[in-house]
Amino acid sequence: MAGGQQHWDGVYGARPEDELTWFEATPSVSLDLIREHLRPGDPFMDIGAGASRLVDALLEGGFGPLAVLDLSSAALAVSRQRLGLRGDDVAWIEADITTWVPDRDCAVWHDRAVFHFLTGAEDRAGYARALSGALRSGGIAIIATFADDGPEMCSGLPVVRYAPEALAQELDRLLPGRFETLGARRHMHITPKGNRQRFQYSVFRKRDR
Ligand SMILES: C[S@@+](CC[C@H](N)C(=O)[O-])C[C@H]1O[C@@H](n2cnc3c(N)ncnc32)[C@H](O)[C@@H]1O
Repeated sequence: MAGGQQHWDGVYGARPEDELTWFEATPSVSLDLIREHLRPGDPFMDIGAGASRLVDALLEGGFGPLAVLDLSSAALAVSRQRLGLRGDDVAWIEADITTWVPDRDCAVWHDRAVFHFLTGAEDRAGYARALSGALRSGGIAIIATFADDGPEMCSGLPVVRYAPEALAQELDRLLPGRFETLGARRHMHITPKGNRQRFQYSVFRKRDR
C-alpha cells in the first residue's frame, strides 16, 4: 500500500518533527474546535496523530482520557519521548485506521490530514467503519483535510482534496444519514519553510439512533 507504515516511519525517521510540512507549534484551529465540544472526562481520540503536539495541549488543559493512533511507530515514539512521564496517561495505538477494529469509544474524534490520503474507496470505507464503531452516538468528528484549492500531494503521496460540502457528501455516502454537519472553517496553514497550504476543518455530529 502506498503510504504504508514503512513510508511513514521513514518520514519521521528522516527529519525532526518541526521540519515536517504539517508541523504546528500550537494546533490552534484543532484546539478551538475540540474545546468547543470536549468536556474533561470525555474520551478523545486523535487519528493519524503523527508527532502532533495536540496531545500535549490537551493534557495540559486537563482533558482525557486521551488516545493517540497512528500507523507509524516512529511518529508515536517522537511524541512519547517529548512527553516523558506525562505520556503514561495517554493510550498509544499503533494501527492502520482503515483496518483498525475499535477497542474503545470516544466522544470526540479528531483527524488532521489523514482522511485525505485515502484515495481508494475501500480505504475510505474502512475508515468509516472505524469511525462508526468508535464514536459514541451524539459524538463529534472533526476532520481536517487539504481544501479543494489546497495542495495535490503531501509527503510525496497523492491526496483527495475536499471542499467542506464535498467532505460532508462523502461522509454521507459512506455512512448514510449517520452524521449532521455542525460547521466548517477554512484555514491557511503556513509550513515551516513558509509555504501556504489551504485546509478545511469540518465538524460533524453523529446522530443518535
Ligand atoms: C500529514 S501527517 C499529519 C499528522 C498529524 N495529524 C498532524 O496534524 O500533525 C499524516 C499522519 O497520518 C498517518 N497515517 C497515514 N495513513 C494512516 C493510516 N492509514 N492509519 C493511521 N495513520 C495513518 C501518518 O503516519 C502521519 O503521521
